[in-house]
Amino acid sequence: MCGIIGYIGSKNVAPLLFNGLKRLEYRGYDSAGVVVSQDGFHIKKDIGKVDEINQKLNLLDISGTSGIAHTRWATHGGVTKDNAHPHMDCEEKITVVHNGIIENYQELKRNLVTAGHRFKGQTDTEVIPHLIEEIMKRGRNFSDSTTAALKSLEGSYAILAMNKNERKIIAARKGSPLVLGVSDTGHFAASDIPAFLEHTKTIVYMNDYDVAELTDNSFRVFNLLENREVQRKIDSVDWDIKQAERGDFQHFMLKEISEQVETIQKAIQQDKKILDDVIQSIRNAHGVFLVGSGTSYHACLEASYVLSKVNRMHVNVVLASEFPNYEHFLTSKSLVIAVSQSGETADVLEAVKSAKTKGSKVISLVNVIGSSLTRTSDAFLSLNAGPEICVLATKSYTSQVALLSLMSYALSGKYDEGKKKLTYLWNEVYHLTSLSVREKIKELAEKLQDKDHLFLIGRGLQYATALEAALKIKEVSYIHAEAFAGGELKHGTMALIEKGTPCIVFVSEENEKEILSNAIEVKSRGGYIIGISPKNNEIFDFWIKVPEVHNENPIVQIIPIQILAYQLAVLKGLDPDRPRNLAKSVTVK
Ligand code: M6R
Repeated sequence: MCGIIGYIGSKNVAPLLFNGLKRLEYRGYDSAGVVVSQDGFHIKKDIGKVDEINQKLNLLDISGTSGIAHTRWATHGGVTKDNAHPHMDCEEKITVVHNGIIENYQELKRNLVTAGHRFKGQTDTEVIPHLIEEIMKRGRNFSDSTTAALKSLEGSYAILAMNKNERKIIAARKGSPLVLGVSDTGHFAASDIPAFLEHTKTIVYMNDYDVAELTDNSFRVFNLLENREVQRKIDSVDWDIKQAERGDFQHFMLKEISEQVETIQKAIQQDKKILDDVIQSIRNAHGVFLVGSGTSYHACLEASYVLSKVNRMHVNVVLASEFPNYEHFLTSKSLVIAVSQSGETADVLEAVKSAKTKGSKVISLVNVIGSSLTRTSDAFLSLNAGPEICVLATKSYTSQVALLSLMSYALSGKYDEGKKKLTYLWNEVYHLTSLSVREKIKELAEKLQDKDHLFLIGRGLQYATALEAALKIKEVSYIHAEAFAGGELKHGTMALIEKGTPCIVFVSEENEKEILSNAIEVKSRGGYIIGISPKNNEIFDFWIKVPEVHNENPIVQIIPIQILAYQLAVLKGLDPDRPRNLAKSVTVK
């Protein structure tokens, strides 16, 4: 989704904005722009990648020490230069960048057009600078006019605004992420921390309805709901800028796959007191819901099988986008466990909102601390995976699975045993991400790269793994990949199997006989069988060896597929870090 960054201080702003935009690229975008304030506004924007726009327009060639910038992921209005942010008012005195959706923009625009405002593009955002301009015409200053304009906006926003005649940046958020960075040489505001991490680790998380005024050496926060100035805590992050850089890796995706050796270990390093409280809440609850989207949903599904098997416990696993349809079952005794890497997924936040309206307790498992989800939950556990830049969730997924697994052990009073088992995975993950395994998987990728369709089957835990594996392959290689519970193919989809149709089969000790018999059904119709299995079998046309680690199988079985998806993208000349049409955090419903 869109990314925004702004800076005001003593440093030359253009390189800060350019580097900030580069670090926001992973969120997904189709156009970008910057505006620097120096004796008027100097604006450069276009469609395309930040590097392409820089080559064309030289984004670094604007001097000045305050400015704002934006990467746009089109929602309202096509991908055009005019629709790229920053946007201006009629007189070009006000400039705005925005992430989110202004739901009442049509009505606002109609009124503004009637009042004589001229619009250049079709975005919802463009109403904001015009609205501020309109209010300023009535004699109010820039800050008051911006606050008044914000009050008339419906929908979600993270906004940065500047006035040509005043040295300040106004930063406001409601429902879209925005964080402030504080340094000796100035102030930053951005959609997320990596955008300014190389300059400061001192941050201020903004709450919804907060409006901050940033100057060179101060910041003040006003809250629109409380209608007063508020104090926000100055925090710090222990992220290292190296974690947000590719280093020697060709792509973030490969870097993040390789990091799983450490990140799985970090996921199980939890504050025992907080974990115990969470476990107690699960025990006390009358009805537990596990909620997530995409990959995070698959982690929830994995956990539901483990909880059923190990803890004899039924949990409701619900896609976040579908969750509002379940709110009729919620009571003040229900517990919602929301799982999300970003903590900013709109569907997840909406689910949490509906749970809260019923008085249910919300606990979240999140990677980005300070995100909206951590701040709206009653308690949260951190995935501790460090910044995940590639659009595809890889290390955050195995961290989710590891943490949920640790919770299941703790729930059955076997915390130490669980921790030991999960710690032991270190060796296995190290081997699975090694060059020799990657080379072997590359051979498979070469065989599959020209295929249009691919099927994946598994049973129980391996069914959830198959779903996650299919998502990985689709997202990055654009090959149609569909996952089924082993027993389901024969209920219809078998009709699609013909000579050479690839089918990936996830095998574990527990379901070996049944899933192999499903694989034989595919093989007898000409299918090409790829076994992800601890043991080889004559029916496999290609075998990838994984260890048998029982309830931890989902972790070791997904890694080869993450690598396969990566290799497919590279072989097909695609960018694994930024697949088409996708955004890292999906902040719209
Ligand atoms: O940040 P979240 O975990 O809430 O994100 C949920 C999904 O958008 C995300 O997992 C998505 O499916 C990824 N692209 C998967 O690789």
